[in-house]
Amino acid sequence: MSNSETKGLIYLDRNEYSYEVSPLVAKVLKEFNPQDLCTYTRCFQHGIKSELSQYIGDMYNVAEQNVVLGYGGEDILKGIIHCFLSQGHQQRKILIPTFSWWYYKSIADEVNGKTIMYPLYEDGYDFKYNIPEIKKIAEAENPDIVLLASPNNPTGNSLSVDEMKDIISSLGKDTIVVIDEAYTSFANKDITYISKLIKEFPNLLIIRTFSKFYGLPGLRLGYGFMGDGLKKFTNFSTMYLGYNKLTEKLGIAALQSTEYYNANAEKMQQDKELYKTGLNPIEGFKVYNSDANFVLVKYPTELKEKLQDEFKKDNIVVKFMNEEGLRTHMRITLGTTPINKQVVEIIRRVALNTNLK
Ligand SMILES: Cc1ncc(COP(=O)(O)O)c(C=O)c1O
Repeated sequence: MSNSETKGLIYLDRNEYSYEVSPLVAKVLKEFNPQDLCTYTRCFQHGIKSELSQYIGDMYNVAEQNVVLGYGGEDILKGIIHCFLSQGHQQRKILIPTFSWWYYKSIADEVNGKTIMYPLYEDGYDFKYNIPEIKKIAEAENPDIVLLASPNNPTGNSLSVDEMKDIISSLGKDTIVVIDEAYTSFANKDITYISKLIKEFPNLLIIRTFSKFYGLPGLRLGYGFMGDGLKKFTNFSTMYLGYNKLTEKLGIAALQSTEYYNANAEKMQQDKELYKTGLNPIEGFKVYNSDANFVLVKYPTELKEKLQDEFKKDNIVVKFMNEEGLRTHMRITLGTTPINKQVVEIIRRVALNTNLK
């Protein structure tokens, strides 16, 4: 599709960022010295991959060697799954949430891994992990990897640190646990548990990204923290010669702009209330609580076509879910406040002007 065809469309179906890049990130990009590209990122003298991995390590109180960098969270996910799910005579197994990012199963399929889904259930306005069921399935299946997403996409629910510990400590000691925290910083500002968790659980990998809270999906920068038991993954994935200098400088600038990003995240948090107060009172609608930069909305399925038409007229794209158990749901990325108001208005107009049944 050409740029002119996509121009003017407001994409609220990809969990991208509608706010501006932080002023510091823009400044660092503008002032970048191209000459910096003439040397490797690796800091040979100190034996570290890069300035960024050290910066992240210091920020999270994790040794630099336990920090992983990648081409977005997707790259780190693919790495860990390919590394630990691909070998052996027997087919290896991964547990993932029933409703979750399609990519998890797809990368397990790439190495002929067996994907087993564990359930989530609805409790009022929340989706929740069924923790006893996760433990039961893990005991029966003895998986090689258990993947937890917190917050989960598209259901928006998170696990508390105690729940993470409860799940991880119930698993066999050889099981690798991957926690995808791509969306976590929107609602969870605490980062102190990370160093403790990876020390307590050597087979744990926690993955984060610059794509969501830091609003830089086009930068393709992800990072993670791994326990000492995953050394094999170090050789498989970590960037011996560093990431790339420009991206790294922008990443550090983003980490130094936390206040700016927190202010935007706060606006998004407040705008979730627009969705709740605007739609929850309408019969057949339910806006789920979300810890991420999107909301999951249940709607009466009879309205699907009308909603699609009205969104199209306003050049807005939202994600109409099309998977078993979520066929009457849409996932809507939070935009700026005027956009969020516009979306709520469109849905209300369609709902209130349509006689159902
Ligand atoms: C649940 C989840 N994890 C990870 C990612 C990876 O994002 P990125 O590769 O841009 O870091 C996404 C992207 O949409 C996602 O939805």
